[in-house]
Amino acid sequence: MEETLTENFRELYQREPAILVHAPGRVNLLGAHVDYNDGWVLPAAIDRAIWLAAAPTVDGAVRIASLDYGQQGETSMAELRSQEGPPPADRDHLRWLNYPAGVAWTLLNAGHDIPGLEVVFAGDIPIGAGVSSSAAVEVAFLLAWNALADLGLSRRRLAQLGQQVENRFLGVNSGIMDQFATLHGAADRLIWLDCRTLDHQLIPLPANVAVLVADSGVRRELANSEYNLRREQCQEALTALQAYVPKARALRDITVEHLERHGHRLPDTLYRRAKHVVQECLRVNEGVRQLQQDDLDAFGRLISASHQSSRDLFEVSIPELDALAETASGSPGCYGARLTGAGFGGCVVALVEVDAAETVATEVQAAYARRFGQRPTVFACRVADGASYRQRS
Ligand code: GLA
Repeated sequence: MEETLTENFRELYQREPAILVHAPGRVNLLGAHVDYNDGWVLPAAIDRAIWLAAAPTVDGAVRIASLDYGQQGETSMAELRSQEGPPPADRDHLRWLNYPAGVAWTLLNAGHDIPGLEVVFAGDIPIGAGVSSSAAVEVAFLLAWNALADLGLSRRRLAQLGQQVENRFLGVNSGIMDQFATLHGAADRLIWLDCRTLDHQLIPLPANVAVLVADSGVRRELANSEYNLRREQCQEALTALQAYVPKARALRDITVEHLERHGHRLPDTLYRRAKHVVQECLRVNEGVRQLQQDDLDAFGRLISASHQSSRDLFEVSIPELDALAETASGSPGCYGARLTGAGFGGCVVALVEVDAAETVATEVQAAYARRFGQRPTVFACRVADGASYRQRS
C-alpha cells in the first residue's frame, strides 16, 4: 500500500512525500455506548487501515486525493481558518473532505499553527460500517500534521482532538473510544480503557482465538441522529437519577442497587438506557477478569449478552445484525458475537477459535443469504498495532 501511495503521490504532485502514516480501524468486544457515559470499554485495533502520504506546502494550499473515491479536493489554510464551524453543504459531493477539513479546523481552533498539505490517501476499512473508518482518517491526518508541524501532541491529546472533530465539526456527539483505540492499539492485545481518566491497560488475547467481522451491508443515514438521541437519553436518565444519587457525575457512577431503588421513577425508555449502561460497565470489567483467567467461554457469553442488551435495552440493533450475531454465536467454535460500533447497521464482531473461523464464516454467510437474499462480507482480522508514521527526509 505504501508503494502505491508513494507512486500516486509522485505522479500527482511531482515530488516525494515527506511522511507516510498508517491508522487502523477498530472493533469493540465489550462496552457498547458506555464511552460517553464515562464507563469502560474493551476495543482493539485491527489489521485494516487508512494509509496516507503527505508533504507540507509553502503557500497554504491543501490538496487531497482519495484513491478510494477517485476524487481530489482542494482548499487552503486561509479558507479553513475562516471557516466558522460545520462543513458547508456545497461540499456534499466531496463528503470525505470534511474529515481532513475538520481536523485542520480543530487544530487551528486549539491554537496550533499548521501548514497546508498535499496528500494522497487510501484504505481497506469498510466505510460507515462501525469499524471506525472515520476515526482512522481523522487520526491519520492528526498524526501527519502533528509530525510535520512538530506540535508534540501526545497520543491521548490527539484522541481528544479527534473526538472534537466529530463533536464540534461533524455534529456527531460520539465518545473517545474509536480515536483512542486507533492510536493505542497493540498486536494481540485488547485495550481496557477507562473513559473517565483515559487510563488504559493492554490485555493479551489468547493465541488460539480469531476475530471475525461480518458486515451486514446496511448503512443508515439516520444513524447519527439516533446516536445523538441515545446520548441525550443517557444525559436525561442521569439528571433524573442525580436527584437521588447527587454524587453521580455520569451513568458510570450509578450502581445496580441505585437502579433497583430509584429506577422505577424514570420513564421506561430512560430506565432501559440506564440499565444497559450500568450492566455493560460491569460486563467490561468482568470480561477482563475472565480473560485474565483464560475463561474464554465466560468472556464470550458476556459478548453475546452485550449484544442482547444493545438490542433490547439500548435499542441500537436491527434484524440484520441480530441475525448475524445469533448465527455466529450459535456456531460451534464461536465464543460470542455482538454488534460493534454505534449499531443501526454495519458490522457484527465474533470471537472464534482460530480453527473454526472458516466454518463459522461460511455458516454466517449462508444463513444470512437465506434470510436476506444477500451474501454478507465476512473477514477474519488480526488484532494489530495502533497508528504509526514514518518521516522521510
Ligand atoms: C461509535 C462512537 C463511539 C462509541 C460507539 C458505541 O463508534 O464513535 O464513541 O460510542 O459508537 O459504543
